[in-house]
Amino acid sequence: MQRVVAALTRRDRPVQFCFVDQAAERLPALVAELATTGVTHVVVLPWLLQLGKHLREDIPRAIAATFLSTPEVAVALADPLGFDETLVQLAERRVAEAQLSVAKLSAAQVFATKVSAAQHESAQLGSGTATTPGSVTVHLVGAGPGDPGMVTVRARELIATCDCLIYDRLVAPELLALVPAKAERHEVGKTGWGPGRGQADINQLIVACGRRFRRVVRLKGGDPLVFGRGGEELAALAEAGLPAEVVPGVTSALGAAAALQLPLTLRRSASTLAFATGHGCVDGHVPDFKALAGIDTLALYMGLRQLPELCASLIAHGRPATTPACAIEWATRPNQRVVECTLADLAQRVQEAGLASPTLVVVGEVVRERIRVAAVRAAVDSEATQET
Ligand SMILES: C[S@@+](CC[C@H](N)C(=O)[O-])C[C@H]1O[C@@H](n2cnc3c(N)ncnc32)[C@H](O)[C@@H]1O
Repeated sequence: MQRVVAALTRRDRPVQFCFVDQAAERLPALVAELATTGVTHVVVLPWLLQLGKHLREDIPRAIAATFLSTPEVAVALADPLGFDETLVQLAERRVAEAQLSVAKLSAAQVFATKVSAAQHESAQLGSGTATTPGSVTVHLVGAGPGDPGMVTVRARELIATCDCLIYDRLVAPELLALVPAKAERHEVGKTGWGPGRGQADINQLIVACGRRFRRVVRLKGGDPLVFGRGGEELAALAEAGLPAEVVPGVTSALGAAAALQLPLTLRRSASTLAFATGHGCVDGHVPDFKALAGIDTLALYMGLRQLPELCASLIAHGRPATTPACAIEWATRPNQRVVECTLADLAQRVQEAGLASPTLVVVGEVVRERIRVAAVRAAVDSEATQET
């Protein structure tokens, strides 16, 4: 530790270190004391935990809670050293090297076994160890299509316990209400993020927050890995050496299908399904319309701006102009709106209705089936009303 401090100090960063012996009850006094000395950043390295008494998370959690009373001091928490696989391996190596007596050997083996068992227990508790044991700080979380009920239990748990949230424009306000009041928030959607700032800035922000905070939730509409640039964010985290966890979300095509009771496949008439984006028409990567035209059901994301070109290209590549199609704006939200017609008419009808982003387009015979079943339901409901 002295060598680390010396190395950092040589780089003109005044660094101090201190050991705190155990005792969680001493922490508040120590933190208050630190704050009065003008300290701005604290890195806590929990040492060995008392095996059998502590879980991996409880001491770090107690420390983080203590620092909440001193917002002027930024705190970063490392994983307890006692849980580091290297430490276990070192212990095992030393045991082998020293060729200890049978009595000593068995004691050392007991130690190593206990550490591994505690690691396993912590992983079972789901403490953010899905990717790399112990050190996940950034979680890419799917917020679903808009209905706050359409998120995973894990997503809710992470949102409610994060200390930093980076979120997109399409995230439901009800989910934002779960975020702890003290958590730092960054909106990186179009409105909050400002013009001229792109994905590279977002990547930088995620990495910077990942280094500063213990639990960063990067909350993204739908699923993080479906047209959400989650791949680029994972790459940035990997380059920065920060492990990540991905928590899937309900992608908007599936949310919209559920909200409209629109089957995306049908036994006899729709056995292939593709999620595609029309966005590529703008940035130069033209979708393979020939291939897309042959898919039974197409769910088109971000296709609103290029809708006339998209529909015309599908028809030009052999999709009948009479193919049923629909556009769903704000699927699963109370303000959801739907336009249903043929592929040939879709762009015009969407424009007349004034649909705006976020809107998803579905093309295929499945739309006809939804219209048919909706008509059956309406007829049955109306008969039932007349009878009563
Ligand atoms: C940048 S992509 C994000 C997709 C997201 N990752 C997902 O899995 O749904 C944004 C596009 O998703 C679609 N979208 C997202 N939420 C939607 C919603 N509630 N209703 C309709 N379309 C939606 C729209 O096509 C929108 O332009």
